[in-house]
Amino acid sequence: MNMPPNDKSWKISYKLIMEKFYVSCPLGQEKTVWQEIKLKLADFVCAEPNFTPGGIELEMPLAEGLVLNHKLKTSNRILLRLKAQKCKDAPKLFNIIAKFPWKNYLKRPEVKWHITAKESRLFNSSKIEKACQDGLTKYFNANQLPAKLLERKDEFHIQNIFIRLEKDDLTLSIDTTGDLAHIRGNDSFRGHASLRSTLASIMIMHTLLDESQPVHIFDPMCGTGTLLKEIRDFYKVNIREFAYQDWHAPLSVEDPDQKLPYLSLWGQDLDQAVIKHQGDEAGILFTQGDAFEPPLHTPSTPLMIICNPPYGKRIKIHEDRKDFYRRLLEKLTFHYRPKLIALLIPEEVELSVKSKKIRIFNGGIWCQLHLINLSN
Ligand SMILES: C[S@@+](CC[C@H](N)C(=O)[O-])C[C@H]1O[C@@H](n2cnc3c(N)ncnc32)[C@H](O)[C@@H]1O
Repeated sequence: MNMPPNDKSWKISYKLIMEKFYVSCPLGQEKTVWQEIKLKLADFVCAEPNFTPGGIELEMPLAEGLVLNHKLKTSNRILLRLKAQKCKDAPKLFNIIAKFPWKNYLKRPEVKWHITAKESRLFNSSKIEKACQDGLTKYFNANQLPAKLLERKDEFHIQNIFIRLEKDDLTLSIDTTGDLAHIRGNDSFRGHASLRSTLASIMIMHTLLDESQPVHIFDPMCGTGTLLKEIRDFYKVNIREFAYQDWHAPLSVEDPDQKLPYLSLWGQDLDQAVIKHQGDEAGILFTQGDAFEPPLHTPSTPLMIICNPPYGKRIKIHEDRKDFYRRLLEKLTFHYRPKLIALLIPEEVELSVKSKKIRIFNGGIWCQLHLINLSN
């Protein structure tokens, strides 16, 4: 942990009990998620974390770690480590689970087990799950939940419990998030090729965070408008329900008075139906139109274009993909004169223009976010 500065406020927070969390991240984007944590918990100093492929291990006081659910836009889920212990066989695992004080976390006896085993003597997932489930049943036989609670059990989450066995080391964790974090809770309409909101926020962090001058933003193939909504809501707290709310008192999290450096948000799509579905989204203009055609009115400047075009899989492209993206870039550059185009496309398709590239795993395929600087 970083040494605390010599002031009183730090002395108070320094005495707090630290808990271990694991922040699950889109693959390859662990440093971006860490950047978001530092940005949004600006007044909290915690030790440099440990990065693993797809996650960040860090230590924080309990409430700080749980609050990440409300503040982060780029992470998938946040696990709280409950126990770490040597465990070589199924009887030992059964005993560990049977003795753990589950009533502190579970308001109903059912759980969903998530099991991973690596170089462990215990490797058969069904045997591991049976040992865990038998241990939990034994625990609840000895520590019954009150009948009044059981009557209301459908009001509570089926908690996700993560069992990780690596060599002879067991790590037991509870998922504090519940439904994966890309489900924001206010997105009832998702198109069939919608971008995950977590990946949209990752794109946005790479594109907009370092922008010194506010810009107008245009998404010419916006679909359900995920990119624009994520730009608008980047600093807003997530108010959907999280799994930890079953076992922890409500946390008060206020919207910070902060916004990304944008002047306006405009989305366009060829598909009239998808645009109609957007209705009146606060702060975003949606219009129907073809990205290859000239705009109906002069675009505002300075303009940044951010775009997640079709890949030719779920939405067909009737020409070679390389030609399609090249033509798209030419038309957008000519008609809109943007200072930057950010384009997320499959990495196997090469672009002939110079760009800064960021690898993003999207919908099962590796893509590149191309940042094409046109300001010169
Ligand atoms: C991959 S989807 C974009 C998804 C969007 N980012 C979201 O999260 O909903 C690509 C979109 O491009 C639109 N599209 C395809 N050709 C277009 C064109 N020529 N002009 C404008 N939009 C187009 C499709 O209708 C589709 O909504």
